[in-house]
Amino acid sequence: MTFENEVRRSRAWFGAAGRSGMIYRSWLRNQGYGAEVFDGRPVIGIASTWSELAPCNAHLNRVAESVKHGVWQAGGFPLEFPVMATGETLMRPTAMLYRNLLAMQAEELIRANPLDGVVLLSGCDKTTPGMLMGAASVDLPAVMVTGGPMLNGKFRGQDVGSGTHVWKFEEDLKAGRMNQEECFVAEGCMARSNGHCMTMGTASTMACMAEALGMQLPGSATWPAVDARRFEVAQEAGRRIVAMVEEDLRPSAIMTRAAFENAIRANAAIGGSTNAIVHLSALAGRLGVELDLDDFDELARPVPTIVDLMPSGRFLMEDFCYAGGLPVVLRDLAEAGLLDADAQTVTGKGVGANVAAAECWNRDVVRPLAEPLQAAGTGTAVLRGNLAPGGAVIKQSAASPGLLRHTGRAVVFDTPEDYHSVCDDPDLDIAADDVIVIRGAGPSGYPGMPEVANVPVPTKLLRAGVTDMVRICDGRMSGTGYGTVVLHVTPEAAVGGPLALVRTGDAVTLDVPARSLTVEVSDDELQRRRAVWKQPEPAHASGYGWLYIQHVLQADQGADFDFLVGARGAAVPRESH
Ligand code: FES
Ligand code: MG
Repeated sequence: MTFENEVRRSRAWFGAAGRSGMIYRSWLRNQGYGAEVFDGRPVIGIASTWSELAPCNAHLNRVAESVKHGVWQAGGFPLEFPVMATGETLMRPTAMLYRNLLAMQAEELIRANPLDGVVLLSGCDKTTPGMLMGAASVDLPAVMVTGGPMLNGKFRGQDVGSGTHVWKFEEDLKAGRMNQEECFVAEGCMARSNGHCMTMGTASTMACMAEALGMQLPGSATWPAVDARRFEVAQEAGRRIVAMVEEDLRPSAIMTRAAFENAIRANAAIGGSTNAIVHLSALAGRLGVELDLDDFDELARPVPTIVDLMPSGRFLMEDFCYAGGLPVVLRDLAEAGLLDADAQTVTGKGVGANVAAAECWNRDVVRPLAEPLQAAGTGTAVLRGNLAPGGAVIKQSAASPGLLRHTGRAVVFDTPEDYHSVCDDPDLDIAADDVIVIRGAGPSGYPGMPEVANVPVPTKLLRAGVTDMVRICDGRMSGTGYGTVVLHVTPEAAVGGPLALVRTGDAVTLDVPARSLTVEVSDDELQRRRAVWKQPEPAHASGYGWLYIQHVLQADQGADFDFLVGARGAAVPRESH
C-alpha cells in the first residue's frame, strides 16, 4: 500500500500511514472488508433516512442495497449511514420542526467522515429537502435517490389518494356519507405498499423537484417504491456517483439559478405542493442562489398545469410514471421554451439532453401544453397586502374558483386548537361567506410551521352542503390538501405580523387575480392595535425547541436557521486521535 500523491478526500483517512491510518482502516475491517477497499477507490457514503417510524422511508434499507451494488460495480467502496428520518404522519408537533435538524445531521456527517461522494436516500416530505440542504452546504459530489411513491390506493374499485382522501373521508364521515367501520376499511386500502404519498403531495413534488433541479437521475422521481426499476435506478445512481467523484461534479455546479428556475416551472406544470416554495427557498439560501417569493409567481405564470394528479386532478403517481414521468413534462417545457435545457445535471449532461427522447404514453395523465388541466397563470400565486407584507401563497388549482375574489367577515382563532374546539359546535357564529383566520401556526409561533392551515369547514356548514371557505393562516398546508386556503402569511402572527392584529368582524379581502390580501382596517387603527398587542410567550425556554425559535427564519426565507444559510464546504477536519 502506498500513500503518495493523494488527491481524494478519503485518503486523508485511509491513506494515512502510522497509528491513525491504522485506526481508520482496522476498525472498518471488523465488517469483513479486505485491505483492497483502501486502495484509493472513491469512498461513497449512502446517507439513508430509513426508519420504521417514517413509513414512507421504511424500505430505504433495500434501496441502499441496490445503490451499493452500483457503487461496487463502478469500483467504489460504499458505506451506508443513517440520517434522522422525519416521518410526516407520526411526528409531533410537526416533521417540519426537524427538517433543519435533519439537514444539519446530513451536512455534519458527510463532512466528518472519510467520504468522496454521497448518495442521498429520502422519501417522506421533509427528508428530500433536508438532505439536499445538507448536501448543498457540504458541496461534495452528491446524487439523490428518492424512495418512490406507494402504489395507487384502491378502495371499492376506486383510486384513493394518500392524504387527499383522508380529508375527503373525514368530510364524508362528518356529513354522514360514511360510517366509522367503512373508514377503518378505507385506511387499509389507501397505503398498500412501501413508498411515500402517491398523490402530488409534498413528497412526490420534492422528488420531482430533485429531478428537475438535476440532482436525481431522469425518471427517478416516479418509479413506484416496489417497482423493480426503482432498484435498477438506485443501482445506476450508485455507478454514477463514482463517476461524479472522478468528474468532481458538485451540487453547486448543478443547483444553479437556472436549475431553480427549471424547478419552479416544473412545479407549476406538475401542480406541485405549496411546500416546494418553502423548501426551494431554504435550499437556494444554502447555495447562495438569489431567489425570492416573487420569482415563484413570475416564473410560474407562463406555465400551465399539465399533470392531472390529485389533489388538483384525477390520477396518481403510478399513472404519472406509466405515462412517462417527469421527463415528459421537462421535454414538453423545453419544446415550449420554458426550460433552460443546458442546466447541468447528475448525468453530466444538460437537462434537455437527458429528456430529449422522452415519450408520453398517456396524454390524459400528462396533458399537452395546449390542453392543460389548469391554464397558465392559475397556479400557485404569491399574494401581498397589508395582511401579508412579506407575502403569502395560495394554490389556485386546489381552491374554488368562486372564492378567488372574495370579501368576508374575519372569524379569528389564535391557535388551530381554538378552532378545532368549536368547529363541531352547531351554534358556532359563522356563515359560509366568512373568512376563517387561524394564527399562531408560523415557523416560530407553533413552532415548526405545521400543516394545519386547511382546517375543515365548520361541521354545521358541511352538513348544509358548504364544501369550501376562505381560510387564512401563517402555517402550511399538506401538499395533499385542497381548499381556498391562504398559506405562509408573512410575517407570522407570533413575531408581530399584521395577522396578529386582525379581529373577528374585520372585513378581509382576498383578490387572487390582483395578487392581494388585505384587511379593511385603516393604518391608524392597525397602529392602535399594535400598541396594545402582546407577543405570546415562546413555547420553549430550553432544548431544541428553544434553539429553533431563536434562529428560524420566516417562511419567505424557507424557515431555515439563520446560522445554516450558505455553504461551509468539505474541507477535511482536524485529526481525531
Ligand atoms: Fe410521508 Fe406523505 S406522509 S410522504
Ligand atoms: Mg405532507
